[in-house]
Amino acid sequence: MLTDTHNRPLHDLRISVTDRCNFRCGYCMPKSVFGRRYPFLKSGALLRYDEIETLVKVFAKLGVRKIRLTGGEPLLRKDLERLIVMLSEIPAIEDITITTNASLLTQSRARSLRAAGIRRINISLDALTPEIYQKINQIPYPLQDILDGINHALETGFEAVKINMVVQKGINDGDILPMVKNFRGTGAILRFIEFMDVGNHNRWSMDKVLSGREIIDRINPIYPLRSVGANYSSEVAKRWRFVDGEGEIGIISSITQPFCGDCARARLSAKGELFTCLFATSGYNLKQLLSQGMSEIEIREKISSIWAGRDDQYSMLRTQKLRAGNLKTRSVGKQSQKVEMSYIGG
Ligand code: GTP
Ligand code: 5AD
Ligand code: SF4
Ligand code: SF4
Repeated sequence: MLTDTHNRPLHDLRISVTDRCNFRCGYCMPKSVFGRRYPFLKSGALLRYDEIETLVKVFAKLGVRKIRLTGGEPLLRKDLERLIVMLSEIPAIEDITITTNASLLTQSRARSLRAAGIRRINISLDALTPEIYQKINQIPYPLQDILDGINHALETGFEAVKINMVVQKGINDGDILPMVKNFRGTGAILRFIEFMDVGNHNRWSMDKVLSGREIIDRINPIYPLRSVGANYSSEVAKRWRFVDGEGEIGIISSITQPFCGDCARARLSAKGELFTCLFATSGYNLKQLLSQGMSEIEIREKISSIWAGRDDQYSMLRTQKLRAGNLKTRSVGKQSQKVEMSYIGG
């Protein structure tokens, strides 16, 4: 089995199908940076569907079983269902999932994604208070449309519907309990994500991070919780179930409890570069190998040698430095030009 320098296998592939998004969440694509003049990729520069299919076949031979489609906003990519069908037909791929902002998730879209082969869907929603929601997302967009999108997902029979809430202290932490109240008992799994220092523009600082522990401590006295085990070894969320049987929540503590130790995720950027970490500064251009006519076996060997040499454990090292107190809160993103999350796909 292929493993990296820390003995981690390659199991998941996150594919960004577009670097564009119709929202401008401040922690991901702040409007001040991602404005009209931002040099988004031209459609001809994106990995084509046949190229994605070829690469996924190669990754499957190296151990990948789970695919997550991301962006930017993946539902903006034309004819996405066609790609999903193509990937569903690759026998080794057991799970095809998507992370979306749900703004385009009409009932018919939810059904067509499910029919094409999406098994599980994760939806980003950071607040229920319209003003807070608006302030984070930075685009005038009705909150009700997102809530409708979530309902469409729940009605469509996906194997799981998860809601991702990125918690920023002093901005949306007041909505933690309303979010819990709203989603418990609906079948959706609400997940709280510690605000991360990803990319170079989101003005991350440690004072804006509410730790997973503090989040649990706010919820538990009102809605008692008990911890439950992971669904699979490289799961990023720690799971907690409501004692009264009203479902579960998840906590993604990339800052205070990093999970690099069993990170089995590779990422494919919208233009076809392989990244071995969310916080990487550069990727390896696989699209170029395809256009040079390199065979699948040669590409497999290349990916295999990149994975075998993989040493990434950014979150763990960052947290060690933070604990040692020798890292200024703002300086993490300034030290190197990290790739943007919308480009690499979360
Ligand atoms: P499932 O467990 O399959 O439902 O998906 P997921 O939680 O891996 O995917 P999702 O796209 O919903 O990601 C949730 C959050 O976890 C996002 O904020 C991601 O950026 C973060 N995340 C996912 N993978 C990694 C990772 O490898 N490293 C870090 N630091 N964060 C990650
Ligand atoms: N910190 C934590 N999570 C983030 N996401 C985007 N940017 C950040 C960040 N800086 C989340 C989105 C989405 C998922 C793919 O990543 O909210 O749910
Ligand atoms: Fe778009 Fe998602 Fe980034 Fe928000 S977090 S700007 S919805 S890609
Ligand atoms: Fe994996 Fe990098 Fe995230 Fe650590 S920081 S879990 S190595 S993607």
